[in-house]
Amino acid sequence: MSRAWNFSAGPAALPEAVLKRAQAEMLDWNGTGASVMELSHRGKHFMQLAAKAEERLRGLLGVPAGYKVLFLQGGATQHFAQIPMNLAAEGDSADYIVTGHWGEKAVREAAPYINARVAGTSEAAHYLDLPPRESWTLDPRASYIHYTPNETIHGVEFHTVPDVGDVPLIADMSSNILSEPVDVAKFGLIYAGAQKNIGPSGLVVMIIRDDLLARKGRPMAKIFRYAEHATNDSMLNTPNTWGWYLAGLTFEWLEAQGGLVTMGERNARKAKTLYDTIDGSGGFYRSPVAVHARSRMNVPFTLHDSALDAVFLAEAEAARLLALKGHKAVGGMRASLYNAVPQEAVDVLVNFMRDFAAKHG
Ligand SMILES: Cc1ncc(COP(=O)(O)O)c(C=O)c1O
Repeated sequence: MSRAWNFSAGPAALPEAVLKRAQAEMLDWNGTGASVMELSHRGKHFMQLAAKAEERLRGLLGVPAGYKVLFLQGGATQHFAQIPMNLAAEGDSADYIVTGHWGEKAVREAAPYINARVAGTSEAAHYLDLPPRESWTLDPRASYIHYTPNETIHGVEFHTVPDVGDVPLIADMSSNILSEPVDVAKFGLIYAGAQKNIGPSGLVVMIIRDDLLARKGRPMAKIFRYAEHATNDSMLNTPNTWGWYLAGLTFEWLEAQGGLVTMGERNARKAKTLYDTIDGSGGFYRSPVAVHARSRMNVPFTLHDSALDAVFLAEAEAARLLALKGHKAVGGMRASLYNAVPQEAVDVLVNFMRDFAAKHG
């Protein structure tokens, strides 16, 4: 059976070349006579893999000196809580810019550890727009400012890095990391769950500036302390070796594609193909998101008659177009267009959408 076109929001499509390579290496990785999953993380083969993966990620993102790269576990959600534990002392406050479901959750999970202030929000716009920068009430004494550059569920994305002055900026890049070049020097901390643009779930990649790593934070067990993970090269305990391996393969694949400039161009073209189809459908399809805030990675759209939703999904699945059902918070459909989703998949999708509209319009 051939592979379907997969528009899942996450865990999401991985590059086919990466999956094939992992398949080929499954039983005998690197001439070791064992799967990478069956080898010690402290052995020379895995240590080399780990170092190479970090080197590739640093190269792709152009991570400047003065930042550590960590390969952690717990999903992005655990780090919603662990970030304030590490970066703030009792009684400190941090500013959160909330532009959707994940930003809301970040505030909720941080609240036991820090005074998490909502300093900007687009809740009144149902998270279908971004709050204008002038409306943010930033506190210059905040421990950090947290935002979600791409909200996976609502489909809103910041297309520039906000200027927030000297307070360290923290970004949950779970759903847009590696999708285009980014100036890492503008951030104090970047983190991302792997299961969209990097690899399998259960791995978190974090890029953290040394001065933030040096903060004392709250009293906590060693296993929660980022500085301990950094000192131990992300091997304080047994890491997610399989995830790390696949991440390394994805980084290698990204290099072979031409790096993040190429990915940025491809992602912009894919998103334009889909938004143009929605906008050109004479109202059959609609994007609920403000045009300037539209995400390149996650594209929610509705049908003019929601009674057709189930028919659309059934016909899409029959056409081998997977995971197009929208999140219940927004309704309708959502197509996620991460790095591993090729232009061809989007072309097949928009042709399907045009045919569907002609048949049911
Ligand atoms: C932007 C964003 N942040 C955080 C998360 C939560 O990630 P995890 O399930 O790995 O904790 C997701 C998951 O989809 C996400 O899209």
